[in-house]
Amino acid sequence: MARKIQIFDTTLRDGEQSPGASMNTAEKLEITRQLLRLNVDVIEAGFPVSSPGDFASVQAIAREVGDNATVVGLTRAVHKDIDSAGECLKVAKYPRIQTGIGVSPSHMRDKLRITEEQCLERAVDAVKYAKRYTSDVQFYCEDAGRSEYEFLAKVVQAVIEAGATVVNIPDTTGYSLPDEYGRRIKYLMEHVRGIENVTVSVHCHNDLGMATALSLAGVANGATQLECTINGLGERAGNTALEEVVMGIKMHGEELDAYTDINTKEIMRASRLVSNITGFVVAPNKSIVGANAFAHSSGIHQDGVIKERSTYEIIDPAEVGAGKSEIVLSARSGRAALKMRLDLLGYHFEGADLDRMYDKFLLLADKKKEVYDEDLESLVGEDSRGQEALYTLKSVQISCGDPLIPTATVTLLDANGVEHVACSVGTGPVDAVYKAVNQIVDVENDLTEFAVQSVTRGIDALGEVSIRVTDADGEVFTGRGADSDIIVSSTKAYLHALNRLLRAATSKER
Ligand code: KIV
Ligand code: ZN
Repeated sequence: MARKIQIFDTTLRDGEQSPGASMNTAEKLEITRQLLRLNVDVIEAGFPVSSPGDFASVQAIAREVGDNATVVGLTRAVHKDIDSAGECLKVAKYPRIQTGIGVSPSHMRDKLRITEEQCLERAVDAVKYAKRYTSDVQFYCEDAGRSEYEFLAKVVQAVIEAGATVVNIPDTTGYSLPDEYGRRIKYLMEHVRGIENVTVSVHCHNDLGMATALSLAGVANGATQLECTINGLGERAGNTALEEVVMGIKMHGEELDAYTDINTKEIMRASRLVSNITGFVVAPNKSIVGANAFAHSSGIHQDGVIKERSTYEIIDPAEVGAGKSEIVLSARSGRAALKMRLDLLGYHFEGADLDRMYDKFLLLADKKKEVYDEDLESLVGEDSRGQEALYTLKSVQISCGDPLIPTATVTLLDANGVEHVACSVGTGPVDAVYKAVNQIVDVENDLTEFAVQSVTRGIDALGEVSIRVTDADGEVFTGRGADSDIIVSSTKAYLHALNRLLRAATSKER
């Protein structure tokens, strides 16, 4: 039977210790509700003795949680801390006091200035004292990751005998290697009497970017509680990220002989909520919850994912509430990705038509980082306009500015593929371009309307120009053109309108 791994979330305590991540009670309650949707087992709500505000918010969280999870208050191995947490947690249905002390040579010698014997004494005393308030007492061996194996085992043995129900073995400074941390947990499992009757908890920090690996090594070697935060929020480089360890256990449950009760479909929502509240932006390449975690950009990967999602995706994005895999269209995309996206938009291109669209797409993708659906709509619109064109744009070049005189050189191809070049000055760059076009397409017209709008997002967005021209008989023709350069869009829009006007004139003559 696989082991149930308890998920102990400390976003509201260790996560909040992140410089700049402090939250008010209302925000903490919103996160608490989301943690309950995720179905975490334990919520560390705060450090009650640290301030009246923290005391009040731990109580508010405990009330909100009710009987849906255990609520933990942190303390040092100090009576006044424990009194405060004990008082505070009276409103909790399942209260747990977490108390502890530094057990590494560095912490005992340089921070606490105590001997090993004094450390042991304070540890045992703190556990016994906390037991006055609740039967559920968790003991943390601070900086266990850098402690001596034998002394660590001695402390763990002593606190279990004093009544601790959970022993927490933190790698407080994120110093360990996964193998070594795993060995440390195994050593405790093998050398501490009665350890099988308590919960062994892992609490790792990400200073070397290994918090997830460390935590899973701990689970592989016997730990059955895992402490973590949403998005890996926490002191310095952060804590173990909940989303990573939960999905790690889900993907490798058999090897780890473990499972969690987390409702993984709530992961993305939790990530966004914590990011919005704290203002800590999630990196696009962050595992599981980053914006690019399920986005595929290279042509080879896109081709694989289109054929079978699992070729390049180990997790179905829907499983973590992240919607669908995303095919990002860029200059690295192949025909398969373009065709799939066009098909989804309702445009079906095959053979030579698809080749033509792909060439146009690449021209656009070379100018833009990412090609969006709206860009494709414009491309398709322009393609259909191009099919009926008498004149097409080969190139347009302008020079303008202050104090330059706006000047344009335009090269057009007629229906027979013959090149026509014209040059003009104007009151502005668009005026100069239109005058140059008029020298080639010699047809009477009056420009009555001109509008530009951005089609897509970002600085490299497509600008779409819509215009209206009137012919000698007062008939109105509209034209549209889109490009990341609005002078090019303006030229395309004008040619589109003139081509329509010319076609209408030809059919009238017939
Ligand atoms: O990192 C750590 O050691 C801690 C303890 C207080 C549990 O956060
Ligand atoms: Zn910590």
